[in-house]
Amino acid sequence: MYGMEAPAVISLSILIFLLLHLSFPMQVVNSYDPVDKLAVKCGYSGNIIHNPDRRNWVGDIDSKLFSTIETQHAQASFTTTTPTSPPSVDVVPYGTVRIFRSQFTYSFPLTDGGPKFVRLHFYPTTYDNFDIYDSLFSVTAGNFTLLKDFNASLWLRYGEDTVSKEYLINVGAGQRLNLTFVPSTKKHQDAYAFINGIEVVSMPSFLYYSDLNSTDDDQSNDGIHSVGYDNSPPYQLELSRALETLYRVNVAGGTIPPELDTGMFRNWESDEDRYLLEHHPLSESNGFGLHLNLKNNTIPDYTAPESLYLTARSYGMNATQNYNVTWLFDVDSNFRYMVRLHFCEFEPEIRYYGDRTFQIFIAEAMAEDKADVIGWSGGNLIPVHRDYTVFMSDQRKFSNKVTLSIKLQRLPNQRETNFHSVILNGIEIFKISDDSQNLAGPNPDPVPSQPKLLVYPSSKSSKKTIIVAFIAVVVSILVLASIIGLILFSRRRRSSSFKKGNTKKEGSSSLPSHLCRYFTIAEIRAATNNFDDVFIIGVGGFGNVYKGYIDDGVTPVAIKRLRPGSQQGINEFLNEIEMLSQLRHLHLVSLIGYCNDGVEMILVYDFMQRGTLREYLYGSDNPPLTWKQRLQILLGAARGLHYLHAGAKHNIIHRDVKSTNILLDDKWVAKVSDFGLSKVGPTGSSQTHVSTVVKGSLGYLDPEYYKRQRLTLKSDVYSFGVVLLEVLCARPPLLRNVDKRKASLVDWVRKISDEGKLDQTVEIFLKGSITRECLKWYGQLALSCLRDDGNERPSMSDVVGALEFAMQLAESEGDNNFGGAQDKEKGEDRPLLIPQFTSDEGSGVVFTSDESGTRDSRVTTASGSSEERAMLSAVVFSEIGDPTAR
Ligand SMILES: *[C@@H]1O[C@H](CO)[C@@H](O)[C@H](O)[C@H]1NC(C)=O
Ligand SMILES: *[C@@H]1O[C@H](CO)[C@@H](O)[C@H](O)[C@H]1NC(C)=O
Ligand SMILES: *[C@@H]1O[C@H](CO)[C@@H](O)[C@H](O)[C@H]1NC(C)=O
Ligand SMILES: *[C@@H]1O[C@H](CO)[C@@H](O)[C@H](O)[C@H]1NC(C)=O
Ligand SMILES: *[C@@H]1O[C@H](CO)[C@@H](O)[C@H](O)[C@H]1NC(C)=O
Ligand SMILES: *[C@@H]1O[C@H](CO)[C@@H](O)[C@H](O)[C@H]1NC(C)=O
Ligand SMILES: *[C@@H]1O[C@H](CO)[C@@H](O)[C@H](O)[C@H]1NC(C)=O
Repeated sequence: MYGMEAPAVISLSILIFLLLHLSFPMQVVNSYDPVDKLAVKCGYSGNIIHNPDRRNWVGDIDSKLFSTIETQHAQASFTTTTPTSPPSVDVVPYGTVRIFRSQFTYSFPLTDGGPKFVRLHFYPTTYDNFDIYDSLFSVTAGNFTLLKDFNASLWLRYGEDTVSKEYLINVGAGQRLNLTFVPSTKKHQDAYAFINGIEVVSMPSFLYYSDLNSTDDDQSNDGIHSVGYDNSPPYQLELSRALETLYRVNVAGGTIPPELDTGMFRNWESDEDRYLLEHHPLSESNGFGLHLNLKNNTIPDYTAPESLYLTARSYGMNATQNYNVTWLFDVDSNFRYMVRLHFCEFEPEIRYYGDRTFQIFIAEAMAEDKADVIGWSGGNLIPVHRDYTVFMSDQRKFSNKVTLSIKLQRLPNQRETNFHSVILNGIEIFKISDDSQNLAGPNPDPVPSQPKLLVYPSSKSSKKTIIVAFIAVVVSILVLASIIGLILFSRRRRSSSFKKGNTKKEGSSSLPSHLCRYFTIAEIRAATNNFDDVFIIGVGGFGNVYKGYIDDGVTPVAIKRLRPGSQQGINEFLNEIEMLSQLRHLHLVSLIGYCNDGVEMILVYDFMQRGTLREYLYGSDNPPLTWKQRLQILLGAARGLHYLHAGAKHNIIHRDVKSTNILLDDKWVAKVSDFGLSKVGPTGSSQTHVSTVVKGSLGYLDPEYYKRQRLTLKSDVYSFGVVLLEVLCARPPLLRNVDKRKASLVDWVRKISDEGKLDQTVEIFLKGSITRECLKWYGQLALSCLRDDGNERPSMSDVVGALEFAMQLAESEGDNNFGGAQDKEKGEDRPLLIPQFTSDEGSGVVFTSDESGTRDSRVTTASGSSEERAMLSAVVFSEIGDPTAR
């Protein structure tokens, strides 16, 4: 109804086709004309032409260009005008606002499918009776989450008046773009959402996304270079991902406002004051008065404005020593980012390959060891860009923000380059949506340290920026000081409460309540019907695990009751809770609280709906998981372990990684559990391991660990390697009553892999759904985790990277999976007939020191007792196999 007539659409498509395909080599125009360029002024009726960009902003009241959908009741939203605002706040679009009390959707019909810029403009302030501190909302676009339970008052802290967010979202042909605002009324009763302006602007399909269909040999379309993981295949940025523009920077130049962009109304900000680290002499250069050589262009003209390419930063002319020209950007951890670096050599001296060669580091990893702009572009004044992706894991303790650095250093060897310098002209950084189609960072942001991103309109004086920067620094220092104060305070409080806890029977409030919740024993008894056996869902060396309901029977939880008389002292118990309660990660089971009445020591965790990974591999009636599902779960678990190893305050060694300690929630998100008995890993650089009694589960034990009692982070990597094989072969790590060669999963796979027949180990259900390439990659990963020498095993972060690529290999293969069921019917040889009842579970030998003979076969033995040691090594011998046989 709002769309164009069919012939118009066709002729438009032809026009676009011509523009894209003819203009590209011939350069008729230097800019792009988006088919869709909608600009909406929310809470406004009618049209208004905005001056700098001469766009027609349409009001959303009774507009015929798009529809709106209100749920629940008709008066779900209100419109109003903005109260008196500072002059920096432009009346278009910020002069009016739409406020939502319940879910509200803008549904935009589009002229054509393809990727779009979606820009949201906010002016956070108090409107009528709507206090800005009550704003709390989520925004979704189709299936993508853009903001989640976001508290808009946090923006006030950034010191900017207005906030603009830009997203890149692909919309299928003939589909509408649905933009939904949802106030988080479940979290805060008075919550509301608001919006001042929305833009939807088309972009060329492959401006940022990878052209997977490209057969053009000239276009270097071999994917995006992944930084920090050397032998990884290139990353393909697929249209199924949404992006958020975090930074778009004109290096050594001023702001380039939307109206001076190449037709897509992008805002380019200056790198000064904000991102550039100025420790060293720096040289700025510009080619004002020059023009780009568009005749020999290798990238489309609309890639970036000409003025971006005609300013650059390089080494200081007086540089006598090597250093890095450095830019720093704050980003959310646990997302993948695309970094685009724009280059153009405009200095007349630099014309040939090898004239200026330098090094580029992204997130501290080498991205280019010999960057040569002329080599890439083909000549002076010809622009070019290079794209990289990098996965940012946690680095700091108290913040979900991590720093993505871009560093340029001249070549160590001066003879390999004519000009001993570096160059960079522009930077773009995008956050890539994660596997659950999410772009929203953790919320609320604990320590915002960076001013916000895209400004619209961009009328700010540098004086103001300096003041803002100063305020930001002061605020960060204050926040940091208060965090440190809080820690010291809580430490002191804890140590004094320990003293009390030892004398007092009721050690209830021994932990500061902000760490986690305290349950009374009465609450726990009520939740489990006085520890009724019916509620037992697991049994471990430490005691029973119950399913219970708290909060008046509403919230299911897992309740771990430490066996009374357990070795664990009260201090150790509290220490552990303090450590656990600070570990929060999507892929770790969260500790909700604890109970300790002097006798009982109880931990309360999130309940995981779908149980353990093992139950989906073998020994149950559950339908088998597809290959992609398995990779997804492993990737999640690997991320959780990586967080334990590297992301938390201390390195934490899990010590008991196995398929029954990887739990699945109702959405199949993998969560690592049972890190309660984990050891804090080595901290000092001189220490590389902790010596300890051997603890862990048979079949998963690192040989280095049981032989030498040396526990390292790599012990977990070994155990994870065993899980990788379990997932591939769908069998337990140890089998009794079978051919000896098949008894140990690890030995068996190693042997078959040495014979080059790894595919014979694959579970029959998976046959046909794993490609040769993916299997090879996966097999190499698993076997490298299982190397005898811990130093030769990859780190968990390497494992995460490798699994991401395995995912990609699996995805790029299209959907020829799910053929497994048929294969099964054909009765092909199952690689190994698993007698389901002869796994290590329930076998007498396994439970060396676990008197109860429980399902959770944890081996715990001190290195002291010689009988125990002998027994352990006998068992372990069978699991590891005869070393001389290899
Ligand atoms: C939003 O954050 C502010 C400042 O941190 C806080 O005072 C306010 O209560 C929060 N609002 C909601 C609805 O959570
Ligand atoms: C959104 O998700 C649903 C269910 O997961 C799926 O059927 C639908 O195709 C998705 N829509 C888009 C636009 O990706
Ligand atoms: C957008 O919302 C409309 C109305 O609810 C619905 O018919 C349409 O399928 C939605 N489109 C997409 C792409 O989600
Ligand atoms: C690539 O080609 C396939 C089949 O020819 C087509 O279905 C798909 O839409 C194309 N993808 C892109 C991004 O053009
Ligand atoms: C541009 O291309 C033309 C024709 O291919 C060639 O003659 C010319 O030398 C090129 N210029 C530069 C600067 O590379
Ligand atoms: C380089 O050194 C000279 C002399 O020491 C000085 O005058 C000049 O300002 C310096 N240039 C820069 C960019 O630091
Ligand atoms: C520049 O940064 C990289 C990456 O962090 C580092 O390896 C290198 O040593 C640095 N160079 C200098 C001279 O500091």
